[in-house]
Amino acid sequence: MIDRIINAAQEPIDKEDTEVEITLRPRDFDSYIGQERLKANLKLAIAAAKKRNEPLDHILLYGPPGLGKTTMASVIANEMNTQIRITSGPAVERPGDLASLLTNLTDGDILFIDEIHRLHRTVEEVLYTAMEDYKLDIMIGKGPSARSLRLDLPKFTIIGATTRTGAIAAPLRDRFGHVHRLDFYTVSEIESIIIRAARILGVEIKPSAAKILATRARLTPRIANRLLKRVRDYADINGDGIVDNSMANQSLELLDIDQLGLDPADRMLLAAIIDNYHGGPVGVETLAAITSDERTTIEDMIEPYLLQIGLLERTSRGRKVTAKAYAHLGKINDNDPDQTSLIN
Ligand SMILES: Nc1ncnc2c1ncn2[C@@H]1O[C@H](COP(=O)(O)OP(=O)(O)OP(=O)(O)O)[C@@H](O)[C@H]1O
Ligand SMILES: [Mg+2]
Repeated sequence: MIDRIINAAQEPIDKEDTEVEITLRPRDFDSYIGQERLKANLKLAIAAAKKRNEPLDHILLYGPPGLGKTTMASVIANEMNTQIRITSGPAVERPGDLASLLTNLTDGDILFIDEIHRLHRTVEEVLYTAMEDYKLDIMIGKGPSARSLRLDLPKFTIIGATTRTGAIAAPLRDRFGHVHRLDFYTVSEIESIIIRAARILGVEIKPSAAKILATRARLTPRIANRLLKRVRDYADINGDGIVDNSMANQSLELLDIDQLGLDPADRMLLAAIIDNYHGGPVGVETLAAITSDERTTIEDMIEPYLLQIGLLERTSRGRKVTAKAYAHLGKINDNDPDQTSLIN
């Protein structure tokens, strides 16, 4: 994993990061900022389930890393007053592992499966009947003496999270009653998240400095919190601990994060498309080879934000940079007749 300060991935840079992330995690709908449509849908579902005294329908949350999927799962459990068990796709290795997770639940419990797109095929197939009928079919023994056993399960709710819905098989996806995409946040929502985090962490930050951080946090809460901590360090060492505009700007400069929140890896990707492929289109595999990033790193960590802010476009023939990307990097766009006539 590349070590990027603005890496939205959960892999914490240090242990302190994990602890802080837990402290900052909103616990209910009121402290969970933004994602208004998602919250409205979930509130309705929760109220209806409570009224009928039924478990919640299964919920699939998808979207780029760091936007609050895990946080939302625990908010849902909290609002439902139920227990939540947490696991992840790759951790459930065999159908037997799934069986022991599910048989240990009680009615109404939530099983959160992070990275659900990475479930093993054999486990996924067992999960289908479990989700649909609250029954579990498992095979006991091997060869001619093998027999299948059907177990009754408690009325549980699965909350699945994934950064890539494309990787989820249709039969699994179809078993979720609610499928919701988490969107990037607005700059003003990120600003509120920074102000809330500063209050919890006891950081004194000027409103104008919070605005500066908000525009550079890639519209992602995890990155907003991380930038706040780095700026706090900077202000503690180079100032009196108060985060003002100059502290914010200086530390962002040191981190090499530009006006749009791009870091060297983002700029390198855009420049690679411009310099080697006249702006594209170019296939993602080729890009991965030139930038020596993993394909999934490009698809999950780098690309979504570049697409969101309109620096990159996805076409059927690959990725293409936009005129905005040329302007941001200060490169001459040789596809643009106005600009080429200037240099000829
Ligand atoms: N809506 C929000 N309001 C305030 N803080 C938030 C919000 N969403 C997320 N955060 C903060 O961002 C951090 C990251 O969120 P979370 O771990 O839920 O992201 P995720 O979508 O599960 O990421 P991943 O795909 O990497 O698992 C949380 O610890 C929390 O502090
Ligand atoms: Mg998560």
